[in-house]
Amino acid sequence: MANLEVDFCGVRFKNPLAAASAEPTLNAANMKKCIDAGAGAVIAKTMTDSPEMRELTTKAKWRFLNEKHEVCQGRVPRMFSLYSRSGLAIEQPEDFIKEIRETIRYADKHQAVVIGSVGSIEEQGWVDLSRQMEDAGVPLLELNFGCPHPKLMPGVRTGMNVGQDFDYACGITRAVCESVQIPVIIKVTPQVTDLVAFSGLLKEAGAAAVTLTNRFIGFVPDIETGQPFIYGQAGIGGPWTKPLTLRWINEVRQAFKNELFITGTNGAYDWRDIVQFIMSGAHIVQMCSAVMAYGYDWLGRQVKGLEKFMDDKGYRSIDQMLGIASDAAMPYSDMPFEKARVNPELCTNCGRCLKVCFSDGMQAGDEATYVLAEKCVGCGGCLSVCPVQGAVVIEKV
Ligand SMILES: Cc1cc2nc3c(=O)[nH]c(=O)nc-3n(C[C@H](O)[C@H](O)[C@H](O)COP(=O)(O)O)c2cc1C
Repeated sequence: MANLEVDFCGVRFKNPLAAASAEPTLNAANMKKCIDAGAGAVIAKTMTDSPEMRELTTKAKWRFLNEKHEVCQGRVPRMFSLYSRSGLAIEQPEDFIKEIRETIRYADKHQAVVIGSVGSIEEQGWVDLSRQMEDAGVPLLELNFGCPHPKLMPGVRTGMNVGQDFDYACGITRAVCESVQIPVIIKVTPQVTDLVAFSGLLKEAGAAAVTLTNRFIGFVPDIETGQPFIYGQAGIGGPWTKPLTLRWINEVRQAFKNELFITGTNGAYDWRDIVQFIMSGAHIVQMCSAVMAYGYDWLGRQVKGLEKFMDDKGYRSIDQMLGIASDAAMPYSDMPFEKARVNPELCTNCGRCLKVCFSDGMQAGDEATYVLAEKCVGCGGCLSVCPVQGAVVIEKV
């Protein structure tokens, strides 16, 4: 049977799935439900000294949108978007810390890890909140430099407003890392140009890990009313963001393998995605939107799915999958030349491949489509639209 345990920054996780910092981890009661469902860890809703960010959560709004970006009615589909306006933890830090302590006591009995998350509006505030979290007993701390909402709140300098100012962010990271003993994880915004350079700077400032990444800001009008959903711009994410997140995990893994731990968030929907995050280089995978769409039990189902996948494939440990796809990725310059070949026995001559061939490599024949080798560049568009498995193959030349 596969061993799902992970060593993340020196802390043992029973499995790599964490409930991300958000409404499913809003308080002790919610975090206990994530733990009961089987999550290896919970990342508490971000504790803050910002009154605006606390108040925002008391009037939070969100909509699950379908592929057409209409509000879902009933079933939330696989490729949904979660369009939301929400702040940070509602309680004042001194009250929220009680929720943390209660959750740690519960988590200890279930071999789950409680990770603290903080977000301040001043440099000293980051240090103070971090110390409070450490005193409460969390083994790991996440600094939320990625929350998109402060960008839409003039004067509130936290979350993404910090994550977009590398100097300020590194100064905070250094100050916090010098003030606490526990490993510090930095959760970044994807709305910057270079997360590899930033990750390197954060590592030098003392960070043990990066969380790649928080969500984007979007804008979605309702064409029936001419009004934007939930009053205007909002945070947006969902399973469709996964490749964008994995791109950064891939690059940070390649740049800092064995030097920086990575936790992945923004786009993990189910156990298949967890596998893809791990194969890209994430030690721990965080999940939020899918839990908000389908409930706490979703977490446990994904842990079981991951275990079954590993058993079926013969992976005995998470380590055996960690970063294998990133390590196999090659630059454009190393790609081989390839060409398509049609198997006339299987080709039904449906003509779909002809419509998606832009090099005239695919040619219509009487009985079967055939390949004009001197024209074909081996792009593989034909392979993707061919309805018969094996009728088109792509081969190295
Ligand atoms: C309603 C909502 C509230 C969130 N609150 C926080 C928060 O307090 N702190 C934080 O670091 N991230 C917060 N996030 C971001 C999530 O932790 C997570 O990183 C993000 O949703 C991407 O993961 P997903 O694709 O699994 O949803 C929030 C997200 C949503 C949708």
